[in-house]
Amino acid sequence: MIEPSKKVCLRTFGCQMNAYDSLRMAGMLADMGYAQVEEPDAADLIVLNTCSVRRLAEEKVYSYVGELKRLKREKPWLIIGVGGCVAQQEGDKLLRRLPHLDFVFGPDAVPSLPGLVGDALRGKRQAMTKLGPSAAPSQIIIPTAPGLRAMVTVMTGCDNFCSYCVVPYVRGRERSRPAGEVLQEVNALVEAGVREITLLGQNVNSYHDPDSGLDFAGLLARVNEVKDLWRIRFTTSHPKDLGQGLIEAMAGLDKVMEQMHLPAQSGSNRMLKAMNRGYTREKYLEQVRRLREKVPAVALGSDIIVGFPGESQEDFEQSLSLLREVRYDFLYSFKYSDRPFTRAGRLEDKLDEDTKGSRLVELQALQRVIGLQEHQAQVGRVEEVLVEGPAKHGQGLMSGRSRAGRVVNFPGPPELTGSLVMVRITQGRENSLAGELIPATGENTA
Ligand code: 5AD
Ligand code: SF4
Repeated sequence: MIEPSKKVCLRTFGCQMNAYDSLRMAGMLADMGYAQVEEPDAADLIVLNTCSVRRLAEEKVYSYVGELKRLKREKPWLIIGVGGCVAQQEGDKLLRRLPHLDFVFGPDAVPSLPGLVGDALRGKRQAMTKLGPSAAPSQIIIPTAPGLRAMVTVMTGCDNFCSYCVVPYVRGRERSRPAGEVLQEVNALVEAGVREITLLGQNVNSYHDPDSGLDFAGLLARVNEVKDLWRIRFTTSHPKDLGQGLIEAMAGLDKVMEQMHLPAQSGSNRMLKAMNRGYTREKYLEQVRRLREKVPAVALGSDIIVGFPGESQEDFEQSLSLLREVRYDFLYSFKYSDRPFTRAGRLEDKLDEDTKGSRLVELQALQRVIGLQEHQAQVGRVEEVLVEGPAKHGQGLMSGRSRAGRVVNFPGPPELTGSLVMVRITQGRENSLAGELIPATGENTA
């Protein structure tokens, strides 16, 4: 094998879809002889995989790229590329605004990365941002040491056009990968030691195998059959598309974990309509009820936007009451920000930053209480934990995740890494659970 002599610093911003794309980029660059380094100062090539879903995320990218100017001055041979959603959104404009950039590539151009690097080495600057009709990932690139958990993208893009969201514009229309290819990738990962797979898509429950017409529940059933795979998770699910088939699949397939991210975005019908979400508060709650009826242990997560244009105090209070009613296990919450191309960006009645800020603080404070109470309610339960390794904090503690996706820390030997153990929960904290190992005896193997 050729010893890698060139070095790449790959920085990832944003969602899991980007994290997955970055792994593919790292694989392709390793084939070109690039070893990964953490610090941009040590690199010959810097690739940023960017996110533009909220304004703050985009601003971070601009300031990061700006800082790289100094490096390029010191090392004129340095190649800098910007990929991901900001690249897709801005295209050529990025090259014009930032003369120290060498190339720009959208999410669909990930397979062209080696060519773009090669061109840049020959002095060609370019932006590749065409959104293809069939560009769901088609290569299978397996990281060399993938660890216990891995992601597999099953579909990309979005057809929903929520009025605040840039994703349909930067990720394009919905495209699913053939089930055969998904399974091939899952099998290869399992062969490399992976035991837990998260299936990714902007709307996984709109998955539709282009070859056989298999839906997402059908895909789950196929992945469930993969030998030596222990756990399956998936994200993100759109509430309007949560069909009975998926609920039954979750309830019936032993490897599918009891966890669902089901973003509500708001608890107010007026806002849900303005957001073009395609459901009402009542319909959302009905979906939650149907899911919990079949999968009682399910841990639910959500995204909430505060301060959407025209959101009144009363609308906001409806979001607070939704939190109280559903009692989420985990919540991501955001201040609304204008995004290019979107309908909401053109709406009047924008809220000021202070109002958005104080609403966010109030929502997060409420969720902290609910999350803690939900975690405390786990005390006394015996949970199956996939042990990932020593806990970050606390000597002698091991850490893993329960079936519902909660972090569980417990005293135990490092040799447990990579195994499934049973842990009795003794304490519920805000972001994790603490427990004690139940020694493996014949009784606990059922
Ligand atoms: N402003 C604030 N939050 C947004 N999100 C998407 N677009 C915006 C926006 N313009 C949030 C949604 C989505 C999550 C990924 O980001 O809650 O589910
Ligand atoms: Fe954006 Fe809505 Fe599509 Fe989610 S469903 S990616 S929020 S447009």
